[in-house]
Amino acid sequence: MRIVMLGAPGSGKGTQAKRLEADYGLLQVSTGDLLRSAVAAGSELGLRAKAAMDAGELVSDEVVLGLIRERVASPSAAQGFVLDGYPRNRIQAEDLEAVLNELGLGLDRAVLMDVDFDVLMKRLTGRRTCSRTGKVLNIYFSPQEELEECKSAGGELLQRDDDNEETIRNRLKVYDSQTAPLIDYYDGRGLLTRVDADDAVDTVYARLKGALALD
Ligand code: AP5
Repeated sequence: MRIVMLGAPGSGKGTQAKRLEADYGLLQVSTGDLLRSAVAAGSELGLRAKAAMDAGELVSDEVVLGLIRERVASPSAAQGFVLDGYPRNRIQAEDLEAVLNELGLGLDRAVLMDVDFDVLMKRLTGRRTCSRTGKVLNIYFSPQEELEECKSAGGELLQRDDDNEETIRNRLKVYDSQTAPLIDYYDGRGLLTRVDADDAVDTVYARLKGALALD
């Protein structure tokens, strides 16, 4: 199964894509994670991406296309993939279509993770990543035991550089102007499925699986 996850920053794309990967072997491809790794490694690509990411703007289409092309063609995507955070504008959607055509593949579904805008700011300002396990948690929504588990294992709860209010506001604006139009793009192709993502993680996951006809 080959899936695109659409949705605003904080809508839970990464959280749910990781579960699909763990349960169904679909390769999660997060352009955000790949770009953050490049920044952390200090690679040339990372240096090119950093300023845009810090400002909450999109990194160039050509840079992210390179990252995507390599992953969707890799053997680890043989069971299928979940693209988390790609495409993010019309050009990227067309680029993706062209890459998949070259590989003789098609998309099965574009899932829109639907969440009220007011919820997003709290999810994003509350997000933390455990330095020890890499698990993505939330100081407002994760069970206290999970937050404690990280700390008692000697981990720290790290906050992403772009999860500050000013940058979040710009990321949400960029989503509205550049990415939200892809909802109509995929709807017009008969690929769009909306999932109400404004509920607890497990409930949303059950809905997502139902929408994808997975058990
Ligand atoms: P990226 O990393 O893709 O960030 P994003 O789109 O802003 O999405 P997020 O990761 O913030 O949110 P998410 O929907 O994955 O939510 P999550 O599951 O973590 O991109 C970062 C930057 O990289 C961009 O700004 C851009 O500069 C660049 N970039 C990336 N892709 C690009 C591209 N294609 N083109 C150009 N530039 C690109 O959840 C958020 C929080 O909420 C977590 O704490 C989680 O625990 C919590 N949570 C999740 N679900 C629930 C729930 N149901 N209930 C309660 N809490 C929940």
